[in-house]
Amino acid sequence: MQRAFELLTGGADPLDAIVEAVKIQELDPNDQSVGYGGLPNADGIVQLDASCMHGPTRRAGAVGALEGIKTPSEVAKLVLKYTDHILLVGEGAKRFALSFGLREEELLTPESRERWLRWRANLNPDDDWLDVPDDARLMARPTGTIHCSAVTPAGEVASVTTTSGLAWKIPGRVGDSPITGAGQYCDNDVGAAGSTGRGEAAIKVCGAFLTVEHMRRGMTPTDACLETLRRAIAMTEARLLRDDGHPRFGLSFYAVNKKGEFGAASFTPSRFAVCDAGGARYVDSAALYS
Ligand code: GLY
Repeated sequence: MQRAFELLTGGADPLDAIVEAVKIQELDPNDQSVGYGGLPNADGIVQLDASCMHGPTRRAGAVGALEGIKTPSEVAKLVLKYTDHILLVGEGAKRFALSFGLREEELLTPESRERWLRWRANLNPDDDWLDVPDDARLMARPTGTIHCSAVTPAGEVASVTTTSGLAWKIPGRVGDSPITGAGQYCDNDVGAAGSTGRGEAAIKVCGAFLTVEHMRRGMTPTDACLETLRRAIAMTEARLLRDDGHPRFGLSFYAVNKKGEFGAASFTPSRFAVCDAGGARYVDSAALYS
């Protein structure tokens, strides 16, 4: 966030600034939620999703199930900038990235491969893979995503979301992150929003779009995020709700309005990162449940 803020205050375009910021995590092999080192699908192949929007030009770009390229946010920005399309997927998205000089690389790190191998071994006690000792840290089914929104001093807005998606997903599955309106959305007249967590839940309520629309009708960013979470619960199938009505999955929304007011909300207490004139810091999200 500090990097994005430095770029913004140095006069950078808001989309350029936030893509540079999320690329830090995409290129970090120790971040298993996005980009290089992201956790793979059920076949052990890392498939990355990202999307972005640019308020001043009202353009959008996205890639889904992209293999072999470490920085899907950068490819989404290239789709936005150079094409009359919004979403490229799979092999076509990779060929598009290669045409801009991006390099095809192995995205599995030894650590992310090890987690996948253990998941595969322990999947079924009756198959021919011998189970390996369980380790809660390695075996938990992780999700991870980064959303970043920004507003410049002049009130120009941009948004980006990037992810390796749900670990061990069915090959070809894409979540909310590459879906403009679900994983991220911005409107230069209002603000920007995005999500992390169970993508299927964000898609069903067009979550990022809905959050921006709540702000358009006058809600604060925090209240807009909370209201979208309530809608997500209302749209949740019974099998995904506990007896007390709370969801069995995680979902968070983040929002900033044109004035630079920001907020976020999750089902349970959580934190998010911001940077403004007050510096880079973590801030508590609002929570629907204590
Ligand atoms: N929110 C990221 C995903 O579901 O893939």
